[in-house]
Amino acid sequence: MANTTTKAPSVEDIMSRPVVTANPTNSVATCAGLMNDAHVGSVVILDNGKVVGILTERDLVGLAATRYGSDWTRSPVKEWMHEEVDTIPPTTAIADAFRTISERGYRHLPVESDGVLVGIVTMRDLMRQARILPADRYAGEVPKGLEGLAVAETEIGDVRGQQGFFHYRQYSGVDLAEKRSFEDVWHLMFEGELPTATQAKAFREETVPLRGIPAAVKPLLGGIAKLGEDFVPLQAAKAAYSLVCSELDFKTWLEIDRPELRRQALRTVAIFPTLVTALYRLHQGLEPIEPNPELGHAANYLYMLSGEVPSPERARAIEQYLMLTIDHGLNASTFSARVITSTGADLGSAITGALGALSGPLHGGAPSLALKMLAEIGTRENADSWLRERVLAGQRLMGFGHRVYKTDDPRSTLLRGVAERLDGERVEFAKFIEKRAVEILEELKPGRALYPNVEFYAGIVMNMIGMPDTLFTPTFACSRVVGWTAHILEQAADNRLIRPSGHYIGPEPPAPVPDPQT
Ligand SMILES: CC(C)(COP(=O)(O)OP(=O)(O)OC[C@H]1O[C@@H](n2cnc3c(N)ncnc32)[C@H](O)[C@@H]1OP(=O)(O)O)[C@@H](O)C(=O)NCCC(=O)NCCS
Repeated sequence: MANTTTKAPSVEDIMSRPVVTANPTNSVATCAGLMNDAHVGSVVILDNGKVVGILTERDLVGLAATRYGSDWTRSPVKEWMHEEVDTIPPTTAIADAFRTISERGYRHLPVESDGVLVGIVTMRDLMRQARILPADRYAGEVPKGLEGLAVAETEIGDVRGQQGFFHYRQYSGVDLAEKRSFEDVWHLMFEGELPTATQAKAFREETVPLRGIPAAVKPLLGGIAKLGEDFVPLQAAKAAYSLVCSELDFKTWLEIDRPELRRQALRTVAIFPTLVTALYRLHQGLEPIEPNPELGHAANYLYMLSGEVPSPERARAIEQYLMLTIDHGLNASTFSARVITSTGADLGSAITGALGALSGPLHGGAPSLALKMLAEIGTRENADSWLRERVLAGQRLMGFGHRVYKTDDPRSTLLRGVAERLDGERVEFAKFIEKRAVEILEELKPGRALYPNVEFYAGIVMNMIGMPDTLFTPTFACSRVVGWTAHILEQAADNRLIRPSGHYIGPEPPAPVPDPQT
């Protein structure tokens, strides 16, 4: 039971003081020096005693990386600091401060009393506090499903749910999908930058030869493709990929160097479409098709499925889908990959764990279900009654709702455009159902902000390019594997075992253990 008599600690009990401060006219270099001398991660900028900005260690890293060559001894901090700083009063409960800091993505929060700066709390102070207090005082504050909780620092990308925006590194995911190739984005995720023409060529030369299935694994795939009554290609791909990892001798990353871990990551991304298509064809009684080195990653995927070089329209449609789904914050499968990596397990184990998470319909398993829903509705006349009945019966409309997006999912918007390009007429019915579903959800589930997610139009696009339904989720895996491996590389580069606490709510222990009944 929680201790209800003790006063809950507030920010005043843990904040750091005095705070390291500077003036808006001080140079960035002066501020960096102040941080360094005081061993703190931020400087609060005061103008006539009022908080007007903050500059953090993270900002300095960003400036050093993007403004190489600037003279920081002359550049005043007011030009680079964050303005409109949120502050909190010292009486704020620690749980509330933690929520503010994690929801808004801050690391440092100045504390003000009657307009006077009295201290500063950092994410680390709050985390430390959470660790030393009894779990029951804190776990109650952890949102169910960890919603809104930042669980890792990452430079790979993020999702801004309220704005309907997601980005890979510093670029909008949608802009990348409109302007670049899959390989360019893969390079961006691994190397931190979009490739120059020379780098793109070298990357292609490095990755194309990694597409092939090892000779020792090939004869084993037929058996996997025939296992079980129903063929579940994602499960089959997981099994086949495990064999590849054994054959290639993937070891705990603690025992291998960084270039080797990167090679394993590249190999994993390169081979995944080959495994998916080979297993699918074997299940159909067809021979697998060897990768075509002349084709890009996305076009080659379609090629290995049918043996035909796809039209540029079809190839670009699948490429855009793949680019849009490479990464999406700390979703369940990406988080799983990071948790497994944090134990020192090999890269293959982290990927198979992520594949397991992706197989669930609440995460990656919905595109074929969304398409099935459209087929079941069948006609415009049926739409209202069908949708209403399902929602009133407590069922979920597949392809709608998202944990983070509370507005249009930008991936869904772009894919709607791709579908229109492929077959404008056919997409009319889907657009009608989308509109009615949003209206009915708004009426029957007011305030939940339920809009189509990526999977609604993903299924339609894949269907239009001739992808079999059973390969929708494995196709999603072919792109998300880039995000997973990028996160694995990042986790391994600065690792600490991920080991949270649970909140025990069962009968009070220790209860006497009854003797076994005689
Ligand atoms: C994606 C999803 C799992 C996010 O779920 P979440 O953030 O945990 O949201 P919750 O389960 O807390 O749902 C909040 C409310 O909205 C409702 N809701 C959420 N998605 C819904 C949907 N697709 N259809 C009908 N109602 C839905 C829930 O029933 C709940 O209602 P309640 O407050 O009356 O209990 C959820 O929207 C869903 O199941 N969607 C359908 C499956 C899907 O499209 N998956 C692909 C994801 S990319």
